[in-house]
Amino acid sequence: MSDLACVQFLQWVLPRMGMRWRGFRKVRRQVCRRIRRRLGELQLEGFGEYRRYLESSPSEWRILDGCCRVTISRFFRDRGVFEALGSTVLPSLAATIDSGGVVSVWSAGCGSGEEPYTVSLVWEKRVSGAFPEVGIRIVATDAEPVVLRRAAEARYEEGTLRDLPPKWVDSAFRPASGGEEGEGLVLLERIRTSVEFRHEDVREGMPDGPFHLILCRNLVFTYFDQSTQVRLLQRIIERLVPGGYLVLGAHEEIPDGRWPLSLAAGSRCVLRYSLPPSGTSCSTGASGASTSR
Ligand SMILES: C[S@@+](CC[C@H](N)C(=O)[O-])C[C@H]1O[C@@H](n2cnc3c(N)ncnc32)[C@H](O)[C@@H]1O
Repeated sequence: MSDLACVQFLQWVLPRMGMRWRGFRKVRRQVCRRIRRRLGELQLEGFGEYRRYLESSPSEWRILDGCCRVTISRFFRDRGVFEALGSTVLPSLAATIDSGGVVSVWSAGCGSGEEPYTVSLVWEKRVSGAFPEVGIRIVATDAEPVVLRRAAEARYEEGTLRDLPPKWVDSAFRPASGGEEGEGLVLLERIRTSVEFRHEDVREGMPDGPFHLILCRNLVFTYFDQSTQVRLLQRIIERLVPGGYLVLGAHEEIPDGRWPLSLAAGSRCVLRYSLPPSGTSCSTGASGASTSR
């Protein structure tokens, strides 16, 4: 079964699932491998037979959807973004919180925990010293049970940590011990306690919020089609506090439209939510905060 056959199958199937081929072009290997494994389970000869099977088995679409999750991630991915979070975004949010309160964060499509745990690390290393009376609470959601199990274990291969400052690795991880399966480094409990993982498909549900910071990177704005992006972006914005921040992946953009978001923190991946002044609508752009990208 050739790569071309898989590509043609994906080009047929993805739009039918509210996804776009463009997002998968460079990372299709993982997805094609899973689909081929599924063909084996069903004892089907090729993608043509699978197409016919899908047309007569509505329940199979859900299984195929699960095959189309790209789970690549790593700690400190897109370093500039986490530097902006540590130097500007998180301190400015912490400054608005009363003593004893928390900065609330949502990591949507959190993978095996690399992203929310990086936020927790950045908080400890860069922010908490200046705001000892303020805490951080991170809700991390993902649709894929396998990555959530890994996130709960918090044991990582060293390659996944390669972008972290070495001193952070030394002070926040320990070698896996005999009782733990496999090798690698385990993130210490004190960094893990601020993160709560939940199994949730972002298209079907989102944590209530409100959040000061939402990271939605390398998921909605890469893999989903335009109308799904618009629908989900509306719901994401509803969950931000005014003045809160939305972080995108390095190669992502929000769909065209006038959204109450403006570029912030000197990074094209960090957007700030600003309510228009009362009496004006977003679409007038009168606040200067409504931005189309
Ligand atoms: C490419 S990874 C990105 C991980 C992390 N956000 C980052 O940027 O490094 C995408 C993650 O989204 C998850 N995912 C895919 N479809 C999803 C959905 N419909 N709802 C929630 N999570 C989903 C995948 O399981 C995967 O862990």
